[in-house]
Amino acid sequence: MMDFEKLISQMTFEEKVGQLAQYNANVCMSIDGEITGPATQLGLKKEDVCKVGSVLNFSCVEDMQNIQKTHLENDRNKIPMVFMMDVIHGFRTIFPIPLGLACSFDTELAAECSKMAALEASANGVNVTFAPMVDYARDARWGRVMETCGEEPLLSSRIGAACVKAFQGDDMKNPDNIGACVKHFAGYGGAEAGRDYNTVDLAERTLREFYFPAYKACIDAGAKLLMPSFNSLNGIPSVANKWLMNKVLREEWGYDGVVISDYNALGELITHGVAKNGEEAAKRAFDCGCDIEMCSSAYYHNLKKLVDDGVFNEKDIDAAVLRVLKFKEALGLFDDPYRGASRARADAVTLTKEHREIARKAAARSAVLLKNENVLPFSTDVKSIALIGPFADEHKILGMWKCNGRVEESVTVYEGAKAVLPNTKITVVKGCGNEFNDLDRSGFDEAVKAAKNADVVVLCLGEPMDYSGEGNCRTDIRLPGVQEELAAAVAAVNPNTAALIFNGRPLVLNEIAKTVPAILEMWFPGTEGGSAACDLLFGKANPEGKLTMSFPKATGQCPIYYNHTNTGRPKPVAKDEERLYYNSNYIDCGNLPLYSFGHGLSYSNFVYEDMAIDKAEMTKNSEINVKITLYNDSDKEGRETVQLYMRDMVASVVRPVQQLIDFKKVALAPHERKTVEFTVKEEMLRFWNFENELVSESGEFRLSTGYADHLVHPKMFTLK
Ligand code: NOJ
Repeated sequence: MMDFEKLISQMTFEEKVGQLAQYNANVCMSIDGEITGPATQLGLKKEDVCKVGSVLNFSCVEDMQNIQKTHLENDRNKIPMVFMMDVIHGFRTIFPIPLGLACSFDTELAAECSKMAALEASANGVNVTFAPMVDYARDARWGRVMETCGEEPLLSSRIGAACVKAFQGDDMKNPDNIGACVKHFAGYGGAEAGRDYNTVDLAERTLREFYFPAYKACIDAGAKLLMPSFNSLNGIPSVANKWLMNKVLREEWGYDGVVISDYNALGELITHGVAKNGEEAAKRAFDCGCDIEMCSSAYYHNLKKLVDDGVFNEKDIDAAVLRVLKFKEALGLFDDPYRGASRARADAVTLTKEHREIARKAAARSAVLLKNENVLPFSTDVKSIALIGPFADEHKILGMWKCNGRVEESVTVYEGAKAVLPNTKITVVKGCGNEFNDLDRSGFDEAVKAAKNADVVVLCLGEPMDYSGEGNCRTDIRLPGVQEELAAAVAAVNPNTAALIFNGRPLVLNEIAKTVPAILEMWFPGTEGGSAACDLLFGKANPEGKLTMSFPKATGQCPIYYNHTNTGRPKPVAKDEERLYYNSNYIDCGNLPLYSFGHGLSYSNFVYEDMAIDKAEMTKNSEINVKITLYNDSDKEGRETVQLYMRDMVASVVRPVQQLIDFKKVALAPHERKTVEFTVKEEMLRFWNFENELVSESGEFRLSTGYADHLVHPKMFTLK
């Protein structure tokens, strides 16, 4: 460990403040050039640019090397800069969007993808990624659901923790690893009406039960960087929210890592109307333990005054600087400021064949077979295929946050089909566009003709990439344009039709479900999306994804999530489509989603034969053993996610009507029978009571398996 106290004692105030600043590469590159554009707007002086401690985004490894070299030449303390980037679902080889990957329910796969991303990113000069994003999400209108794991806290926690461990490895100093930043703390996904950056008002109990667990899991997994969310949470933007940042994060959870603001979040304190000026913004954020300010200059301009005025003690500034320096040391930057990154290393590990294979496997395992009326898989003996729709030969299937991924390097469905079936006649017809204003139906005739003449038809539909992701929210989450009509026209002339859907959020697929006999949800599958789609369509891979967000029947059902609480007038599931009077229901739509959380078909036929529990009573110190018998009643080997649900029948507060408490992935050979075991412990029955204490209460509980809204083999037990 370096003697940081000595180092800090030798630093000027401006040098300390530099360690608490992060700017874009173009700002930092002006050290040896002119002070222009961004640096001028931020009011930075040339002599201070070389003191800046960290960099957001840069274009290539050579840029990183130049910035670092110039910085070290100009910084008398020789403190290396740290380079951060949003490596969200891959660096150059792009794997499926996080919402898709979560549908694999496969933590090992998530780890494999994160490791691959870390390897590519680190070789290209990235030291830290702003991932994992583990915001809890229930509203598909919100564009950033694509970055989340969806509506299940346990799943988000497990995947988030796996990603942190995979990014960082056993030792962050290893140049193949990168630091992880857990974000956005907290409740960002609770934005009112699914509109990005919007107000979040959530009861503390709700935050603790649903929204907090995944952030906490990532911290427990070793994340040493955390980003507060943009939104106001119960009245105060997160970065200035003392309860959240000081009480929950630092005191309760014992977090001792670095906090970095989101982009200009300190500037936005003024826009939110909770700070009059930069000085107040700096005061509020620093008071809440925000160490690094990203891309605004409230600290730069005001920390000195705040110390001179006695608002803060210089020791407080030193403590923040120390956290930053320790983080840099943990990354190995003091040993090698370049962390081994070079053009040669970058070229050797980026977009390799091996990484493409991982991306292909990940895309296949993330896809969810929503519907299949004996259509899929198609035979590889088909003589002709028609690929119809805007995504038939579309490279833009990487999704938002594609980082350094290049759309032209992705495999389209057409390219994938040619590779899988080189001797089959393939016709491609776009048919229509995929934007809101694409109302042109003049391509329908050609599409229908192609469908009539082909053995099988693959409809390739979806939303453009920039309809989801940051700032991209929708009030109507149906397929844009006239794609539903195209699908109906095509499916009407050829019963061997399957639809692939490319998108970044749950969509309302009622119309497609009425007209098309098979639907395969591909999400934005990444670089190998087209190959993976064809592996699935033609049976080289067996679908195994399960939805981690409900697919509503109408946008007006949003937010819709499986683990909701009961009302005093619940609607019976069997009567979901009926209009009941004075009941908690809509008059024009059922309450259930079209496709529930946990739903996903396979080419195997998994039969849940039985679920047994070894006792009907447990105490706080004993456990219940659960055995679920699963049979693969088919000739196809496959993988299934076995889900265990719990319901607390009576408690001091209303409890979810169903709650996933564990899950396991199992592989079954054709006609194989397996018993999958779970252990239910008292801690799995705990919840946050009205006094905001984590408790379990004695009484009756129900366990079941299957999936949300389709639970089977219920078994009751009592907690004494
Ligand atoms: C804003 C986004 O909210 C955040 O997720 C991201 O990490 C930063 N910008 C940096 O790009």
